[in-house]
Amino acid sequence: MVRSPDLLAALLGLGLGAVLTLPGAGAAGCRALGPAERLVFAPAAKARWLAPRVRAPGPLDSLYGTVRGFLSVVQLNPFPAELIKTLLNEPASVKVDEVVRYQAGYVVCAVIAGLYLLAMPTAGLCFCCLRCRRRCGGRVKMEHKAMACERAVLVTFLLLTTLVLLIGVVTAFVTNQHMHEQMGPSAEAVPETLLSLRGLVSEVPLELQAVAEQFSLPQEQVLKELNGVGSSIGKAIHSQLKSTMYEALASVLSLGQALQVSVDHLRGLNATSVELQEGQEALAPALHGHRQRLLSLLQEPPCQGCAGALDKSHTLELGADFSQVPSVDHVLHRLKGVPEANFYSMVLEENTTFNALPILAALQTADMISELKKVVAEQPRGLNTMGEAFPVWEAASRWSQALEEVEERSRPFLEEVQSYERYRWIAGCVLCSVVLLVVVCNLLGLNLGIWGLSAREDPSHSEAKGESGARFLMVGVGFSFLFAVPLIILIFSTFLVGGNVQTLVCQSWESGELYEFVDTPGNLPPSMNLSQLLGLKKNLSILLAYEQCKQGAVLWTVLQLNDSYDLEKHLDISQYTIKLQQELQKLKVDVKNLDLLSPAARRDLEALQSSGLESIHYPGFLAEIQKPVVNSDVEKLAQELEGLSQTQGNATLGQKLQEEARGLQHLHQEKILPQQNLVAKLNRSVQALASSAPHLQSEISGVLDRVTHLKEELPTWATHILRNESECFLKREMGYFSQYMAWVREEVTQRIATCQPLSGALDSGRVILCDMVADPWNAFWFCLGWCTFFLIPSIVFAIKTSKYFRPIRKRLSSTSSEETQLFHIPRVTSLKL
Ligand SMILES: *[C@@H]1O[C@H](CO)[C@@H](O)[C@H](O)[C@H]1NC(C)=O
Ligand SMILES: *[C@@H]1O[C@H](CO)[C@@H](O)[C@H](O)[C@H]1NC(C)=O
Ligand SMILES: *[C@@H]1O[C@H](CO)[C@@H](O)[C@H](O)[C@H]1NC(C)=O
Ligand SMILES: *[C@@H]1O[C@H](CO)[C@@H](O)[C@H](O)[C@H]1NC(C)=O
Ligand SMILES: *[C@@H]1O[C@H](CO)[C@@H](O)[C@H](O)[C@H]1NC(C)=O
Ligand SMILES: *[C@@H]1O[C@H](CO)[C@@H](O)[C@H](O)[C@H]1NC(C)=O
Ligand SMILES: *[C@@H]1O[C@H](CO)[C@@H](O)[C@H](O)[C@H]1NC(C)=O
Ligand SMILES: *[C@@H]1O[C@H](CO)[C@@H](O)[C@H](O)[C@H]1NC(C)=O
Repeated sequence: MVRSPDLLAALLGLGLGAVLTLPGAGAAGCRALGPAERLVFAPAAKARWLAPRVRAPGPLDSLYGTVRGFLSVVQLNPFPAELIKTLLNEPASVKVDEVVRYQAGYVVCAVIAGLYLLAMPTAGLCFCCLRCRRRCGGRVKMEHKAMACERAVLVTFLLLTTLVLLIGVVTAFVTNQHMHEQMGPSAEAVPETLLSLRGLVSEVPLELQAVAEQFSLPQEQVLKELNGVGSSIGKAIHSQLKSTMYEALASVLSLGQALQVSVDHLRGLNATSVELQEGQEALAPALHGHRQRLLSLLQEPPCQGCAGALDKSHTLELGADFSQVPSVDHVLHRLKGVPEANFYSMVLEENTTFNALPILAALQTADMISELKKVVAEQPRGLNTMGEAFPVWEAASRWSQALEEVEERSRPFLEEVQSYERYRWIAGCVLCSVVLLVVVCNLLGLNLGIWGLSAREDPSHSEAKGESGARFLMVGVGFSFLFAVPLIILIFSTFLVGGNVQTLVCQSWESGELYEFVDTPGNLPPSMNLSQLLGLKKNLSILLAYEQCKQGAVLWTVLQLNDSYDLEKHLDISQYTIKLQQELQKLKVDVKNLDLLSPAARRDLEALQSSGLESIHYPGFLAEIQKPVVNSDVEKLAQELEGLSQTQGNATLGQKLQEEARGLQHLHQEKILPQQNLVAKLNRSVQALASSAPHLQSEISGVLDRVTHLKEELPTWATHILRNESECFLKREMGYFSQYMAWVREEVTQRIATCQPLSGALDSGRVILCDMVADPWNAFWFCLGWCTFFLIPSIVFAIKTSKYFRPIRKRLSSTSSEETQLFHIPRVTSLKL
């Protein structure tokens, strides 16, 4: 079959067009990494959170508030920065008058305590002497009207004072116990807090190492993707060259078919024209015989109505003369043995080779890719040193050591504090018990006394109850005098310590003055300089750090590490990338084995091109083809003769005519019809060749040019696509590395070493010292002090009240009871105290 030349030309044009636009097709942007290709890194930063301790709200909070209020009245001076600075740096040069001026409130309190300390024993002694002389605390001299009223007032006052004492002593007991219970856990919290602070800095190197190690994630991903890069490059080359190659192969195939068809037609043309000549040679004498016979027959006189047939018989001769057709021998001669090649199987083979390009590329790049893998497996140098170069790295051990030292040193100190606290607790318990004893004495005395008074009207009743009531009161008074001194000493010493802790430390801590003090350069001795301890170039503000840490900042921000540490320098993997790129550029894919056209096929095409097929004079053929084989219509003539033979009167003539008719019919069947069929065949071949030959020439040269061009350009294009592809590949793989970089940047600057434990530790420290220890401590001395000062009215009212409890009636007779002195031990024991 013949391919339409127009279609072929169109295909050719299309193919060339595709070839010309091919390099541009490679410019399609590289595919970016999708969200599914995000690497998932394991968080390297430990979540460190030190929950700051808090004191649960309790019923004693209002008491603590009151005590704090009291202390702020006692200490009106602001935070003594200068004094503390001197104290910390040169303890020897602290001036006493400065301390006294600062502690003025406490000095006043000390004076009051001193007065109390002097007054109570003195008063006790005086009272004792007076009691010895029976001048005081004795009986009521005589009954008078207002006595009951006075007595009731005194009893009420004593009762009230006792109740106040009772409340005070109960709270003192409670706070003493509370304080004692807080001490243990608070002391334990100190090493705990220090430990968590140690982790704050000392674990940073480990975390950085973990960050650096995760470089293996992008590495592994890249190694994995390297496995498929050969075949993916092959695929890219295949898909980008596909249309061009298929078009070219298709045009080669169709040209091969056209060649076959043309050669077949040409051979047919030769064979048919030779056959026609032979047929014609056989036909000519036969025709001549029939013509001669008919002419003589039809011209005979008896032939009736033979004029028409005679005319026709005149033209009974050959029409076309096929010996006149142009010779195609020279063309056929040049096309001898064509086609040599099997175009179909050749194109199939080339196509298969081309379609196997991905596999071929994978095979060809295998060695280079294993080289590349070696390069990828290396770790960039900057990352290796990332952890070690971190400013805190060096400081980590120092920091750890310093904290450990603090921990070590604080341990005996804390133990000591705890043992002192135990003594304080015991003293507190004892003294509280004494006050409680006074309260009990007062209450017993009051009860017995009132009972005695109510039973006074009963004559059978002895006065023992009233008497013993009075004695109980006197015992209470005695205890009060006796223990006033230890009480005031304990109270003042705990007050001095606790009060100063509250006013000097807790208040300034809460208000932030303490941080300001620490932050002011020169205030702390150089050994306590945190900036130096952490090896920072800048001085670190504790207040700022505290506030930042509290908001969840990381050490990176707090210590402003970006000034002393260039993270980007460590994340610079350009050396690594350049090496990768160099290795990638060594990748090669060979497409030289793509031939498109075998030499035999090329020879075939060239033979056809130079065969002169187009120069055959086809109109020469057509001129003969258009002529009839025989000039008259033999079949019609035969029928006419048949008809004439029937109408002839002369039977002999009729019979002869009939014979002629039969002879002509036979000639038509045997010679003319085959000849006509051959002419039709020749017509087809000539038509086909005449229409295809003029284009075939240009088609062949087009395809040959194109194939030559393709063969030359294919390696260049393949290399170009390979470069583009490997560049895209590199870009993609760099995407994984940039993901890692971004993660490192975020991890290091936003997550590693959250310094919340620092603020947590500072808050905990304040809560432990102030809320857990100082508050109950202060509440304890406050309550006890309150009891101590209420002992004075208690003593006064007890002495006054006791008078009214003693019997009045036996005023003259009873002398023995006059001996009822407070410190008359036998009597006291006889009272079964
Ligand atoms: C691919 O090659 C084209 C043509 O040279 C170029 O314009 C394009 O930028 C290349 N693409 C890549 C990803 O390099
Ligand atoms: C080559 O092979 C491809 C894929 O098998 C097919 O689509 C194409 O038609 C073939 N081309 C030719 C010219 O045989
Ligand atoms: C042309 O056809 C005849 C008859 O088939 C053959 O003998 C002759 O060799 C052919 N000519 C050529 C050049 O092949
Ligand atoms: C700590 O030392 C640095 C010098 O090493 C100094 O600049 C800074 O002021 C000091 N900080 C304090 C709080 O003394
Ligand atoms: C750091 O030290 C300088 C002087 O050494 C001082 O002016 C500055 O206020 C200090 N900054 C902090 C935050 O302590
Ligand atoms: C470090 O960070 C601070 C705050 O983001 C910025 O002001 C400063 O310029 C940075 N220093 C460097 C060296 O980048
Ligand atoms: C030859 O073929 C053409 C087209 O097929 C046709 O038009 C013409 O009549 C044919 N000539 C003869 C003599 O058969
Ligand atoms: C018939 O015609 C032939 C010549 O063809 C002639 O010899 C013969 O005499 C004719 N017969 C008659 C009866 O006329």
